[in-house]
Amino acid sequence: MNITMIGTGYVGLVTGTCFAEFGHNVTCVDKIEEKIASLKNGQIPIYEPGLDTLVAKNVGEGRLHFTTDLAEAVPEAEAIFIAVGTPSSRRGDGYADLTYIYSAARELAAHLQGYTVIVDKSTVPVGTARQVSRIIGEENPVASFDVASNPEFLREGAAINDFMRPDRVVIGVENRKAEQVLRDIYKPLYLRETPIVCTDIETAELTKYAANAFLAIKISFINEMATVCEAVGADVAALAKGIGMDGRIGNKFLHPGPGYGGSCFPKDTLALMRIAQECGESVRIVEAAVEVNAAQKARMVKKIRDMLGGSEAGKTLAVLGLTFKPETDDMREAPAATILPALLEKGARIKAHDPKGIEEAKKYLPPEIEYVANAYEACEDADGVVLMTEWNQYRALDLERIRELLRSPVFIDLRNVYEPEQMHSLGFRYTGVGRK
Ligand code: UDX
Repeated sequence: MNITMIGTGYVGLVTGTCFAEFGHNVTCVDKIEEKIASLKNGQIPIYEPGLDTLVAKNVGEGRLHFTTDLAEAVPEAEAIFIAVGTPSSRRGDGYADLTYIYSAARELAAHLQGYTVIVDKSTVPVGTARQVSRIIGEENPVASFDVASNPEFLREGAAINDFMRPDRVVIGVENRKAEQVLRDIYKPLYLRETPIVCTDIETAELTKYAANAFLAIKISFINEMATVCEAVGADVAALAKGIGMDGRIGNKFLHPGPGYGGSCFPKDTLALMRIAQECGESVRIVEAAVEVNAAQKARMVKKIRDMLGGSEAGKTLAVLGLTFKPETDDMREAPAATILPALLEKGARIKAHDPKGIEEAKKYLPPEIEYVANAYEACEDADGVVLMTEWNQYRALDLERIRELLRSPVFIDLRNVYEPEQMHSLGFRYTGVGRK
């Protein structure tokens, strides 16, 4: 099939490339000329494991194309996916900013030829697909098209695997004709017995928010349980196992940490709160998860302060990991971007390392932070080390060497990578999150 992908950000590039890998003929469109020029040269603007190889393969085999020109990409397309950004609005009120979606709809309308399904891939509030339909109808009254919603559930750092082996695919359509086009696109998946949940457009749009909000609630829940564990002398790792083995609860997303971050959970929880408010309702449990997440980051600042003997003034901290999670260079809403400025403000000095995120981190973190080439350099003469993001290379640290390098052997493990008993026996003053 001929597919056009508008937007070569994270979701657009991964989805477009994976559709090409399915065997479809895919053209990815973006307004930013430099981005398209570098993609044509095989340079990928983001770090996502395996993506560069898959792009190169599909470009080489002639199924994946890049252009800035909608007139070139739209007419032949049987389906056009809109995967442009929907950031939180600049007003800071939690509403999703749909400017890019609507301008994509307006611009593609004139080029439509023959029956086309326009699919919202971006996470958008309920009702957006109908607006897209209205805009296209106004711009091109003779166009033959349907709109659909096909939310994306892939995780950064595991995007290709998540796309190729999803738990389910959700499609929201108005009629059988559009449904069939989407089913044909995903055929390679349901040959692998991936369930397709086919529903109306509004339900598909809301499903994405519900999934992300539920996961955010789950993380905030375990983070609060970690706090209670610390207070009563219980162990959250065993507790998570104890509840997670109940099939109704499930063992995933029960890892306490410094708070969730990233491009989805913070933005989508706020947007869902706004969606509910707009119709006079509320999602109080989501509001609570958002509050708990802010409090968790503040608690981490206090935890670090306490481990430094009550004040961070004049102390040097080694920070391992800056991105919001491992296997990405993404710094959006990373807990580090809240926690580190709070420490600097109170007079700490920070030496930080991240395997992939330093360039991005420089855009999000205060300029005083010193970036170093590896974990050991960060620990040299530091008054303590904070493990902020659980990159694999920090799971296999030479701990004796770290202890020798540190001025005082303080280890603050915000991802519970290490076992408290082992760390104590190695001579560290160690704390995790909610560990006994
Ligand atoms: C998420 C959703 O998982 C995905 O389905 C959606 O499409 C986009 O948002 P992503 O943001 O890439 O994906 O990362 P994810 O692995 O879900 O982690 C999000 C945040 O939660 C990270 O900051 C991570 O560190 C944190 N997290 C996750 C925890 O603190 N504990 C956990 O148990 C799991």
